[in-house]
Amino acid sequence: MKAFKIVRGMRDFLPEEAQMLRLIEGKARNVAKLYGYEEIITPVVESYELLAAKSGEEVRSRMFAFKDLGGRKVALRPEFTASVARLVATTLRNAPKPLRLLCIGSLYRYDEPQKGRFREFWQSNFELIGPEKPEADAEILLLTNNLMKSVGLRNYAFKVGHIGVLRGILGREGLAEDVQNRALQLMDKKQYEDALSLVKDAGASEKCLTLLQKMVNIRGCNLSSVLGEMKRLVEDYSGASAAVENLAEIVELVSKACNLDVMVDAGFARGLEYYTGMIFEVYVPELDIALAGGGRYDRLVELFGGEPTPAVGVAHGLDRIMLALQEQKALVKPYGDKRVVVVSVSEALSTEALRVSETLRAEGIPVEVEVMGRKVAKALETANRKGIAYVVLVGERELKEGAVTLRDMERKEQRTLKIEELAKAIRTG
Ligand code: HAM
Repeated sequence: MKAFKIVRGMRDFLPEEAQMLRLIEGKARNVAKLYGYEEIITPVVESYELLAAKSGEEVRSRMFAFKDLGGRKVALRPEFTASVARLVATTLRNAPKPLRLLCIGSLYRYDEPQKGRFREFWQSNFELIGPEKPEADAEILLLTNNLMKSVGLRNYAFKVGHIGVLRGILGREGLAEDVQNRALQLMDKKQYEDALSLVKDAGASEKCLTLLQKMVNIRGCNLSSVLGEMKRLVEDYSGASAAVENLAEIVELVSKACNLDVMVDAGFARGLEYYTGMIFEVYVPELDIALAGGGRYDRLVELFGGEPTPAVGVAHGLDRIMLALQEQKALVKPYGDKRVVVVSVSEALSTEALRVSETLRAEGIPVEVEVMGRKVAKALETANRKGIAYVVLVGERELKEGAVTLRDMERKEQRTLKIEELAKAIRTG
């Protein structure tokens, strides 16, 4: 048979990388615990219609969509938010609010593969369902900050905006929602000229075009100046003014709660169409792709047949966070335990080697057994290559005394020990 290649856009995580990913996932679970988020597990396959409803053209056109054998149009989930909103509109309809829900798992988008962009990727996704208050938006920003800090990332930055600002302006001009969506998609990709000409062709006034032109150039970390400028510019647009007020409240809350500095970007838009309020992304200088993204979506649950339910959330790209940590050379070495291999000196003693291994495991010490039938010299050479810390040699002479030989591979020293003393010797190094 021919040698198979991995499917384009997919990836294998070898042990060290798999451990790193799980380590980051563990940090996300810890953040969930600290902020009171409970895990739910939703299916990888959902109805295409549900996933397509408000995901935006960019995600919609890249879904792994197919008909199942029963003829249903389904797709592999490209994100978690639609599944969570489905649950809140149905099974969790009467659950007391707020709901704090965590999802962790793999997602699928037919993106063009490149550094940090895969067709299968991982997210930890946090949704806070029920509150409309800015404290809820602030919580989502704060927990994201907590995760970025706890994994050891440096120099990460929050870009924050509010979709209500741009929609407030476009809506007042009477532009249809699909025109607004297309304009915002272009802005998301920073194709501002194209966005402006689309808006112009759709009948926007000269005043609106000048305003948008100015808005897309306002950004910065000096919050009072950036927010002040935004407020002044949208004075005549009541929806957009309210959005700027709301954004100001949120960024004030996060900066007071934990000195988190954010960069406000007035022309910031995100590809997903369900956002109604604050939106944000997280970046590091080493990569030009977002490590996390989220925002407020107050109408999605209602759109799926539920009660009107405000909601805000975020998804952290776990494999992207891992990539950023690799770029920053900031990852803790995943193997916490010193690895131990048990080798029998002769084949006749292999049962004894298994018995010694079980004794160590019963003491909570992870142990690997030499199962390739290697002779001692070869087994020591392999252990050296694999960075094994200790080799336990099970030999006939020592066994008669109820003892084995413990070899410290780094120090290149060995000593004979009673089997019952072995665990303590390994533990204390
Ligand atoms: P998103 O911005 O589409 O938002 O994705 C969130 C994060 O997932 C991105 O910032 C990135 O780290 C990661 N990601 C997305 N696509 C890929 C890819 N092709 N390869 C690797 N990583 C990727 C959402 O998914 C929203 N559901 C977030 C949200 C939750 N909004 C409200 N609640």
